Amino acid sequence: MRARDRILELRELLRRANRAYYVDAELIMADTEFDGLLAELAALEAEHPEMDDPDSPTRRVGGEPVEGFETRAHAAPMLSIDNTYDADEVREWYGRVCRGLGIGGGTKHEDGGLFVEGAVGASPPPLYTDPKVDGVAIELVYENGRLTVGSTRGDGVTGEDVTANVLTIASIPKFIEGNDVPALLEVRGEVYMAKDAFDALNRKIEAEGKERYANPRNFTAGSLKQKDPRVTAERPLSILCYGIGEVTWGDDAPASWSEAKARLERWGFPCAGPDVFALLDDEPAVAEFVAGLQERRDDLVFEIDGAVVKVDQFDLQRRLGERSRSPRWARAYKFPPREGRTVIEDIEISVGRMGALTPVAVLRPVGIGGVTVTHASLHNRLEVERLDARVGDTVMVARRGDVIPKVVKVLKELRPEGAEPLVWPET
Ligand code: IVH
Repeated sequence: MRARDRILELRELLRRANRAYYVDAELIMADTEFDGLLAELAALEAEHPEMDDPDSPTRRVGGEPVEGFETRAHAAPMLSIDNTYDADEVREWYGRVCRGLGIGGGTKHEDGGLFVEGAVGASPPPLYTDPKVDGVAIELVYENGRLTVGSTRGDGVTGEDVTANVLTIASIPKFIEGNDVPALLEVRGEVYMAKDAFDALNRKIEAEGKERYANPRNFTAGSLKQKDPRVTAERPLSILCYGIGEVTWGDDAPASWSEAKARLERWGFPCAGPDVFALLDDEPAVAEFVAGLQERRDDLVFEIDGAVVKVDQFDLQRRLGERSRSPRWARAYKFPPREGRTVIEDIEISVGRMGALTPVAVLRPVGIGGVTVTHASLHNRLEVERLDARVGDTVMVARRGDVIPKVVKVLKELRPEGAEPLVWPET
């Protein structure tokens, strides 16, 4: 295929995945696959500057705003973060950060790989590391201490105004007080639903004979996009604040995110607690901390899919600057994915002692998070019908914690002709 056609094809594929993820709150592609295609597109675009397009997924974040909500321009764009997948990639990034700042970063390594010849004085910048919460990004705007706007990220430049819904979230301060409250304060964070609240809700829903919700992130996204805020109010949503947008600090402006965060906490904003964040000296410490987070992942109250590593000092962030989609001063350190794409080769139905029918999908073997998955739960008849899962279907399979893998989505557009709905045995 010619490079030109491949570029157009990749843009379309990535746009579709973005739309599914950000607008429909659905997953049609594993994160690693998305990143791989995005990297391929970026490389091709670099070789073919004549194909430049400001609307390319390499230059934009997320999906278009959803119809039905007023839109809101973000005073400062809400960027994405580039992903890294292992300690080496974080180390390379930190090396670039240090070289970009002209300081001898990573000199603690014997091999001297990151040492900058001739750099004197400055020491490598501390890295603030906290969990990458798998929720929905929100911007909160405070004018003279009053929450006036809550908006989604949208395409990064313009989001949806979901203020009425945001006002129903208990842990979000509606007013902030103190003689150091700036006239304008924009706080950014991830809205999520606690895992135990989500599980309890699904149990209740199932007991009522209704369909389960797929995962906390989708449920959160759906809750924020309710037309009736009374519906949102019934959903136990929370927030974890991780950053700021435009702020009119006075003379005592904080010099770093950790200093800004201390103020946010004093004003009542929930931020990463001492058990999940750390200010670290170098990237081996980051790798160790992230490995610890990964181990504790299932014990945390929210879903996380990695950690975010950030240069803490604001002046250094400014010097490093950003590219069109993402800042140079931050990296997402992603855990190995726990979902993958494969094909249902058969559906087996076992009959329990009490006569309950349990459907299990027999899968084309697929490696997910270091193990080969060959079977996945389809839960029960209701779930098979909700998913409309059929033999031959291409599906997304998720493996979380110690739970058996489960089919979370059917990619209906890839369904082969002649795939028939499951026939249930007579009971
Ligand atoms: S810092 C460039 N910290 O992940 C913006 N983001 O994939 C710096 N996210 O847009 C953001 N947890 O919505 C940051 N602890 C955390 C985060 C976090 C989740 C989201 C955020 C961001 C997205 C990028």
